[in-house]
Formats: sequence, structure tokens, C-alpha cells
Amino acid sequence: MKERILVTGGTGYIGSHTVVELQNAGYEVVIIDNLSNSNADVVDNIEKVSGIRPAFEKLDCLDYAGLDAMFEKYKGIKAIIHFAASKAVGESVQKPLKYYRNNLGSLINLLELMPKHGVEGIVFSSSCTVYGQPDPENLPVTENAPIKKAESPYGNTKQINEEIIRDTVASGAPINAILLRYFNPIGAHPSALLGELPNGVPQNLVPYLTQTAIGIREVLSVFGDDYDTPDGSCIRDFINVVDLAKAHVVAINRILEKKQKEKVEVFNLGTGRGLSVLELIHTFEKATGVKLNYKIVGRRAGDIVKVWADPTLANTELGWKAEIGTEDTLRSAWNWQLKLRERGIQ
Ligand code: UD1
Repeated sequence: MKERILVTGGTGYIGSHTVVELQNAGYEVVIIDNLSNSNADVVDNIEKVSGIRPAFEKLDCLDYAGLDAMFEKYKGIKAIIHFAASKAVGESVQKPLKYYRNNLGSLINLLELMPKHGVEGIVFSSSCTVYGQPDPENLPVTENAPIKKAESPYGNTKQINEEIIRDTVASGAPINAILLRYFNPIGAHPSALLGELPNGVPQNLVPYLTQTAIGIREVLSVFGDDYDTPDGSCIRDFINVVDLAKAHVVAINRILEKKQKEKVEVFNLGTGRGLSVLELIHTFEKATGVKLNYKIVGRRAGDIVKVWADPTLANTELGWKAEIGTEDTLRSAWNWQLKLRERGIQ
């Protein structure tokens, strides 16, 4: 068994897939999650997939004393992957203080406790949202593209958290960090035992799409077809969640094997390909044979028109590459939706 790794938000969508990949790589995982947007039975499904039951504590990262006690209980945690955060862009506009409190407070608690408990490194879930709408000459987006003023409190928490990590490391704290800027993670585990389970009406495209395809929602609204793109709909870089999860294992290896070139490194995690919303819908129909009921409606406020990654740095420096194609990815999302119905969940 390799080192012990703490995964905050480990029962969530990206977290659960990452726990499995860490276990597959031989790491011992401790999950903490406050279950605000996930369910404890995810731990059972992680065990079904990997054959190993991770340690799990229901714990909020805002609970400093609870975190301190957790580090005492699970001695020797070497690194943290910090997923736990509130992540609904729209809600963050309505409830900014909830977002600033949760997302900033959680990270601050972890950073304060790391040196005390000998935790060497942290991998932070950041987002392409930090680039805003990149200028045309900066597409595809490299890590050097300018950081634009955040469009939402959620996006702002990602930017501020990156700064908090940089300032903490610059102050001499014995911490190494890797900031991973995700593009649009979609899909589910090929076992259909893990996937995205949004609370209430999904805000993101693919969960809304699969819920429409299965009949939970009547029609998928495509937000705008009059943008300056080839088919008029927005363009994103959709990355398979298992590919994304694997990048976290590489990042943890890199920190623990002391292969970093700088104490804080940043990597874009995307495929390098931009796909429009309409292209994604048609790829789903082709991959699954399911006809989707969709209609074009007006633009959604605050949407970025087009953004996709230049993943060269992650490809060359981390030796990681997104490998799973969009058709397979959308089929996995569909299989997950079918499995949820089988389980009577939705
Ligand atoms: C946004 C954030 C991202 C954040 C994510 C989490 C930006 C640029 N991106 O991603 O940082 O991590 O939310 O929630 O701020 N769409 C429809 N119909 C729908 C839903 C979506 O047409 O019912 C379209 C959107 O207009 C957009 C695309 O699908 O063009 C992707 O939307 P979504 O899945 O919500 O992700 P982002 O907005 O890209």
C-alpha cells in the first residue's frame, strides 16, 4: 500500500472517480465529505468498483476542530486532493456569502492544518472559469492566458483560492501545490456505478440532456444559437471524468516524488478539442441511438461563448492525456442515467 491521501468531497462527482483511480494506483484513501451534495452510499459503490472500501468521515471542511481530530485519527496523511466546494454558478450569484464562506474557509482550514500534521502537498480543483472569455488570440487556452475578472462569486472563489495557495507557499509554508484547471467534465464510470447525481433540476448540460432523454425532463433548452461560432451554439472542451480523475493521480505522484519544477504548478485539464452544444447533442444521439427532444431558446446570462484547452503542458510535463472519445463518454453518461432508473433513484 502506498501513502495515505485525503480526498475532500470524495463522495462527489469528480471526487468519487478520483478515489477509485487513487485506489487502483495503490494509494490508501480517506474521504471526508459533508454530504451536502452527495450521498454516503457512494462509498459502497466505490468499494464495488475498486474492491477496496475507503475510510469515510462525514465532516465539513469548515469544522477546524473536526479536521484537526481527523488528521490525528488518520495519522500520516501525505497529501490532500481538495474537491469539497459549492459549485453552482447561479446559486453563487444569489448567495455569495455562502460561496465565500464555504469555498475560502475550507481551503484556509486545510492549509493551516497541513504543516501541523506533516501533510506535504495539496492538489486543488480549479476551473477554466478563471480565464473568463479568452481573447481570440488566446484560444486554445494555455496556462499563461490572462486571468479575467470572475463572472460569478463561484468563479471568484476559484481565483481567490489559487491566490491563497500561492501566498501561503510564498510565505514559506512547507507545502507544495498543483492547481488543476478543469474544462467541462462529463460522463460516468464505465461500470455505471459512479456518476453525476445533481440535486434537483440540473444546471449543467449533460445531466440535463440525459434526464431529458430518459423522460424526467420534457425538453432540453439550448441556450442560444446566434453566437459567433460555426453553428451558433457555445463551444466547450468536454472531458471524460475518468480521464480527469487519472490526472489527479499523476499530480499526487508528482508531488510525492518531488518532481515539481515549482512549488506551485498549474495545469489545464482538457482534451484540446472544442465541441459546440449542438454538436454534443448530435454526438449523443449518434452514440446512443436515442432521439433527444431539444429546442433553441435565448442565451443564458453570463455564458462564455467559446473556450477550449491547450493541454500541451499537462501532456508533456505530467505525461497525461485525455484518451476517451466523446461518443464513449456520452454513452457512459447515458448508461449511468439508465442505471439510476434501475436503482429507482431518478
Ligand atoms: C460552468 C462554469 C464552470 C463550472 C461549471 C459548474 C464557466 C465558464 N464555466 O460551466 O467553471 O465549473 O459551470 O457548474 O463559468 N447549456 C444549455 N442548456 C442547458 C445547460 C447548459 O444549452 O440546459 C449550455 C450552456 O449555455 C453552455 C454549455 O451548455 O454553453 C455548458 O454549460 P454547463 O454545463 O452549465 O457548463 P459551463 O457553463 O460551461
